[in-house]
Order: sequence, then structure tokens, then C-alpha cells
Amino acid sequence: MGSNIAMAAKSRFEVCASYNKNRVEMSGVDFLKVDLANSSELKHIEQFKPNLIIHCAALTNIDVCEDDPEQAYRENVLASRNIAELANQAGAYLIHISTDAVFDGKKGNYSEADKPNPISVYGKTKLEAEREILSIHPSSSVVRTNIYGWNKRDKFSLAEWMLSKLENNDELPAFKDIIYSPILVNDLIIQLFALYDKKFSGTIHLAGGQSCSKLDFANILADVFALDESLIKATSIDDLDFKAPRGKNISLDVSHAQELLNTPLPTVRDGLVEMKCLRESGYVEILKYE
Ligand SMILES: NC(=O)c1ccc[n+]([C@@H]2O[C@H](COP(=O)([O-])OP(=O)(O)OC[C@H]3O[C@@H](n4cnc5c(N)ncnc54)[C@H](OP(=O)(O)O)[C@@H]3O)[C@@H](O)[C@H]2O)c1
Repeated sequence: MGSNIAMAAKSRFEVCASYNKNRVEMSGVDFLKVDLANSSELKHIEQFKPNLIIHCAALTNIDVCEDDPEQAYRENVLASRNIAELANQAGAYLIHISTDAVFDGKKGNYSEADKPNPISVYGKTKLEAEREILSIHPSSSVVRTNIYGWNKRDKFSLAEWMLSKLENNDELPAFKDIIYSPILVNDLIIQLFALYDKKFSGTIHLAGGQSCSKLDFANILADVFALDESLIKATSIDDLDFKAPRGKNISLDVSHAQELLNTPLPTVRDGLVEMKCLRESGYVEILKYE
């Protein structure tokens, strides 16, 4: 997400981006190496005098978080607390990226009024981060989402992994019983800038305008990219033994965001069509190499 944000932001803002363990470079963007969990290192960001901070750093591997709760706390909670303190002191508007994993997945179609009940260490630390952010810097916005898109680094988002399987004619297992509301990261970023323009404060569900199972998502992706749908095999999350528990229906109700931003959020097909257009327009090459 961070690299896609930097790409989108650099035509409008002076951008300073940070990395920690994996060095990143991009033309037109200043990069700083900062461990956000180490408060003394944030002074480098402070010197930049930011007006807007989009905090999308996290330990996002759910199973690693489950295995190492201390590291999850450090990267997800401590780093967020430090960023909130910095944003508060600098008077910067802060957008904190959170997740649908703050919900247990028993009900689905969660609105901002629904009570979170995370079932994994990842979800618990992300929820704690949300609370720290809003208590330290109440004018921040906390955005709960679920993303896919093109990576700058050599790793796959879910959609890229599905694409690589289908493009290599490999069988693609896809969960029929995980329901979520995915949004193309580039579509999300447009709305993050709209939140900044409105200076929205509080928690908002900003995800895809349509929920689907991971199996539906794989089928639409195969159709949009003209790949062989017969390679997709329906599977159940119950058949796999992941370290961290996953909620089954973590779909988000985005009606508040659609009303506030006065726009429909994209359907699954619209997002995937846009993802394909980005590749055809050379976006992926620029993201990865410029
Ligand atoms: N991907 C999804 O499906 C999804 C779904 C819901 C919510 N989200 C949320 O969306 C946000 C972005 O996700 P993503 O998929 O872009 O994550 P990602 O690819 O795993 O990137 C997370 C980044 O956080 C950085 N980071 C971690 N700890 C850090 C620290 N102590 N100091 C500085 N940087 C640190 C890492 O930098 P280094 O590699 O340089 O260490 C890494 O590049 C996260 O807040 C995540 O919780 C993601």
C-alpha cells in the first residue's frame, strides 16, 4: 500500500516515505529508514514537517503475529502510538490504516457501530492501535479496509498470487466460505485523499462496494483477465490448519463512506478491470522500477 500511496501522492504533495527492513526507492520521493516502533527514530519524520501522515506500516502476516505476539505488539501498537504522538505534536492530519480483522466474522456486513471482537493476535493488536491513535490524536481517521493490487516489492497480494497461479496453468484453491469486501488499493487511495480534503475524524469502513467469497473473487479475476476458470477449486477454510484463526464473514458495510464521500465504492469486477488496465498502461513497471 505504501508504495502505491507514494506513487499517487507525488503529483500532488511533497512526499517523504519510510521503510524499515526492506529498502525502497522511487523517483520524486524522499525515503527515510525509520523503525517506527523506536520513538527516537521518528525525529527524522518530524523534521519533514508533515501536513498529512498515512500510517500503513504494520506486521501484516497474521500467522507470524500469532507466533510472536510481542513483535506484533511492537510493530502494530507501539509504532502506531509513536506515529500518533508525532502527528499530534506536528499538527498533522493522520490517516491510520486498519483492518476488517478487528471483527470475529460471525455476523458480516459490519458497520462502524458494530462492536469489534478480534479473534487473532493480528486483529487484537490492530484494534489496540486504533484505540491508541484516536485517544492520542482524536482528529485522526481510522480506516478499516481489505486491499489487493500491484506490489512494488517481489511479493504477492492475494490477487497477484491468484493471477500467477492461473497464468502458469496451476490449480488455484479458493475459499468458498471466507466473505470479505476487497478494494483495489489504487481505488482506496483516491478515497484516502478525499478523507484528507474533508478532514474526517473517527472510524470509517472504506472497502469494496460489494462483498464476495474468495472463490467468487477468483472466478471474477479469471473472467476479467481471460484465464481458465476450470483451474479454480473451491475449498473450505475448515480444511486448513492455520496458526491464526480467521473470521469467516468479515465483510464491511461501506454505506457511511459512500454517503460521506458522495461516491459509490467499486464492485469487485470494476476493481479487477482497473487492476488489468493498470498493468496494460505500464503502471506496474513504473511502480516496480522507477
Ligand atoms: N494486505 C491486506 O490484505 C490488508 C487487509 C486489511 C488491512 N491491511 C492493512 O493495510 C496496511 C498496509 O498493508 P500492506 O499489505 O501494504 O502491508 P505490507 O505489504 O506487509 O507492508 C507493511 C510495511 O510495514 C512496514 N513496517 C512494519 N513494521 C515497521 C516498523 N517498525 N517501522 C517501519 N516500517 C515498518 C514494513 O516495512 P519493511 O518491510 O521495510 O520493514 C512493510 O513494508 C496495514 O496497516 C495492514 O494492516 C492490509
